Amino acid sequence: MRGLLTLKSLSTQEIMDIINLAIRFKNGLTVNFSGKKMVNLFYENSTRTQYSFQIAMLNLGIAPLSFNLATSSVIKGETLYDTVRTFESLGVDGIVIRHTQDVYYRELETIKVPIFNGGDGTSDHPTQTLLDLMTIYEEFGKFQGLKICLVGDVLHSRVAHGNAEVMKRLGMEVYISGPEIFADQTGPYLPIDEAVATCDIINLLRVQFERHEKEMNITKEEYHRQWGLTVERVAAMKKGAIIMHPAPINRGVEIASEVAECVSSRIYKQMENGVYVRMAVITMALEGKL
Ligand code: CP
Repeated sequence: MRGLLTLKSLSTQEIMDIINLAIRFKNGLTVNFSGKKMVNLFYENSTRTQYSFQIAMLNLGIAPLSFNLATSSVIKGETLYDTVRTFESLGVDGIVIRHTQDVYYRELETIKVPIFNGGDGTSDHPTQTLLDLMTIYEEFGKFQGLKICLVGDVLHSRVAHGNAEVMKRLGMEVYISGPEIFADQTGPYLPIDEAVATCDIINLLRVQFERHEKEMNITKEEYHRQWGLTVERVAAMKKGAIIMHPAPINRGVEIASEVAECVSSRIYKQMENGVYVRMAVITMALEGKL
């Protein structure tokens, strides 16, 4: 299949090639694919991924088609394969898909148009991983030996699972923290205060409080006190360490509101970098390199 489904199938050199192209776009490189058309098929809500892909298309001269799930024939029962096959027949040059199902792209193996995974179930979110890596690389100029802690709902997080696999391959030490009911085999567990004191990157994850409140039997305030990045914990962070979060953020739950934009936060830089990595993966796919 063409496009970008998962980073697991790419070498570390190929991953660095994407990051380096994204940095060149950030530094002013322009590429023009005018006349091409792409569509965003989002079966799950999204702000950052959906609209930064759209902005990336516009920056590259590609016409983005809007797809409204609620008014589409998906509501009449059309399958993912038939919807994708339809857009391929209509002549689009690329399709971005976010879907609730893990590895949804397995059923799309015969599709020839490039597909870009905007997130699949709890499995993977490759462009989020790339924008996280770009942000880390801009900050530290390397990956080898950096300690990162993924904090929060690791068990249900496609960002945690996608990031950990690639970060380990790039030589980073990956730890997890947060409520133990959300811990899995992604990395060794660190208590939050130890993570804050020793890690170079605190990568917070959104707590899906609306889903887990009953199961956790805890208030937002108590979650924040036990596992959140409070103002006090930011003061205890290792010198030079940074805060990341894929967003959307729950202010006052996994992160104190005033911390979201503090000097150590790279949360809005991650969003900015998302446009450049999406420009890079679209460019490489349309040039036959992905
Ligand atoms: N980080 C992220 O994927 O955000 P959205 O769900 O808004 O796309």
